[in-house]
Amino acid sequence: MTIRPRRSVLYMPGSNARALEKAKSLAADALILDLEDAVAPQVKEAARTQVCAAVKAGGYGAREVVIRVNGLDTPWGAGDLAGAAAAAPAAVLVPKVGSGADIRRVTEALAQAGAPERTRLWAMIETPLAIINIGGIAAAAGEPGARLGCFVMGTNDLVKETRADLSKDRRPALYWLSAAITAARAHGLDALDGVYNDFKDLEGFRRECLDGRALGFDGKTLIHPDQIAVANEVFAPPETEVAWARRIIAAFDQPGSERKGVISVDGRMVEIMHAEMARRTVAIADAIAGKDKVS
Ligand code: COA
Ligand code: MG
Repeated sequence: MTIRPRRSVLYMPGSNARALEKAKSLAADALILDLEDAVAPQVKEAARTQVCAAVKAGGYGAREVVIRVNGLDTPWGAGDLAGAAAAAPAAVLVPKVGSGADIRRVTEALAQAGAPERTRLWAMIETPLAIINIGGIAAAAGEPGARLGCFVMGTNDLVKETRADLSKDRRPALYWLSAAITAARAHGLDALDGVYNDFKDLEGFRRECLDGRALGFDGKTLIHPDQIAVANEVFAPPETEVAWARRIIAAFDQPGSERKGVISVDGRMVEIMHAEMARRTVAIADAIAGKDKVS
């Protein structure tokens, strides 16, 4: 499986033509062209037409382009899915997923609308029900014809639904975040942290990126271009970590090491498990280097 860097994943309202254009020159790893929360009901259809045309026209380089559709139970959901299937983005992001059955329903709808195989499905994890059913949602990734590839935390919605208060710190969100990451990893999915609303506060943003990285997230969803550089920095493995990973791999590749489960590298115990982690670190670092070169 190819590793995609998803350090910085920028939302933009699908109704904002300027943002759709500007995104072509921004250093984000992925873009979410939104038809849902960021678009007013009066302009939903115009936004859909504009977003699908932009995706078809391309010009986004190595950036993954994702369309966030309205829920299937809204007046716009079916039309959004049909439009997205024809535009063939890298993924369709589905809001308010509550169960594995919801994933199955969208998977079938995408297939029926003729979405090409390359179009994956990403799921917003943003309701209490999603947190309760998180194992079943992630397990849908293993079903025949599955497209599920990534969880995206919707922390603003979770705050609204649970009445938690994250204004001091994210302790009240720990259960949601950890549950989603644990389920994602159990089924080979990526997981992206929620947005940081106060986009002028880059110090607070950096702290939250570090918190997300420590929890295990692959990257962060963003609302403003100013947030891209910090997310790219924090969610890339540091050079020292990459160098250490390369030393571990080299040590295990030494003749005579292949039969050993544990060896010593620079005076530290290293097991096969660490070599596996090291290979992932190097793979993501190489993928980032490759991506940053072309965009
Ligand atoms: N994507 C792409 N470009 C963006 C952008 C985004 N999310 N947000 C701002 N920009 C662009 C602006 O178009 C502007 O470009 P220009 O100067 O070349 O014309 C530049 O970045 C600076 O924007 P700024 O004036 O600082 O922001 P704003 O006050 O116009 O907009 C927001 C602030 C929050 C309304 C806007 O950033 C936004 O819409 N963010 C995304 C919201 C969203 O999608 N939410 C749904 C998921 S939570
Ligand atoms: Mg939402």
